[in-house]
Amino acid sequence: MAIVFSGVRPSGEIHLGNYLGAIKVWVELQREHQCFYCIVDLHAISTPYNPKDLKKNIVKTCLAYLVAGIDSKKSVLFLQSLVPEHTELAWLLGTLVPVGDLTRMTQYKEKVKKHKQAKAGLLNYPILQSADILLYRAELVPVGRDQIQHIELCREIASRFNRTFGKFFPLPKPFLSEGEKIRSLTDPTKKMSKTDNPQSYISLFDPPDLIYQKILKAVTDSGKEIRFSPLKKPGISNLLLIYALISGKEIKKVEEDFEGKSYLELKKSLAELLIDELEPFRLALKEHSESEIIKVLKEGAEKAKEVAQENLAQVKELMGLRV
Ligand code: AMP
Ligand code: TRP
Repeated sequence: MAIVFSGVRPSGEIHLGNYLGAIKVWVELQREHQCFYCIVDLHAISTPYNPKDLKKNIVKTCLAYLVAGIDSKKSVLFLQSLVPEHTELAWLLGTLVPVGDLTRMTQYKEKVKKHKQAKAGLLNYPILQSADILLYRAELVPVGRDQIQHIELCREIASRFNRTFGKFFPLPKPFLSEGEKIRSLTDPTKKMSKTDNPQSYISLFDPPDLIYQKILKAVTDSGKEIRFSPLKKPGISNLLLIYALISGKEIKKVEEDFEGKSYLELKKSLAELLIDELEPFRLALKEHSESEIIKVLKEGAEKAKEVAQENLAQVKELMGLRV
């Protein structure tokens, strides 16, 4: 049994990329492992945001975890900002990280381009992410491909800590799934992202007509053949991958099923599949109250704190911060 940690930022709509790249895998991992699943609100505030929307996004993200099958009795499901040990450990770890390691992060460089004036919070984002993981001495981190670089940095921080102060942290490994990179519907050379325009992603809470319309408008490739070839046919390959992951079929089998059929037929069929798969998310929005969800997150935070406080105390001891 391993210790698992992962999180999603509650910024904007939680989408099919988060679901297929991360959350579906989390559900499987909780059967055999001790899992900590977090809503990383402190990460969400590292780029411009609206305070009024934050709570709504936290609740929706948590609801998505629950509907997807995260069991709050088996796994520790909680809100990052309710466990202040995350920020305390982030400060301690920050003393071990060369600034150059932070400025070379791809996500940082991309976000600086987009948001112009870079804030220290954005630069320090991967330190907080490392603190999230190391606070629970997690060994396995199920994420999408875009997060690999951050997990590698986390390993470097952990090993530097171990060399400097004594062995304490395991070196966490990323855990990728077949859905490691779901692409944007409007530009399949890019990953699907919640900060892009809404046409480019399917939110888990999108109504059926919107799902249908977005999939039918998805950018596809020239030609007619339905074939999986991410380099030559990124658009169609993305739709085939989504189809395979949702239906539980092999990509090869989906290709065979659609042999000789048109792009439109594939799109219509995929839209129907998604509408069915995502129905429980839409229904849950009406069935669960905000207060009920906040309660789940608070209870989870109490359980997380027990582990976090114990580990943080040991880190401080090793660093000579116990008087
Ligand atoms: P974020 O939305 O950036 O907070 O991402 C939350 C989790 O979803 C992380 O593990 C990401 O790697 C994963 N993820 C985000 N976008 C995608 C995508 N387009 N394809 C696969 N995984 C993704
Ligand atoms: N940085 C991650 C993302 O943007 C979210 C995240 C924060 C995370 N802390 C984490 C993921 C710890 C895994 C483990 O997707």
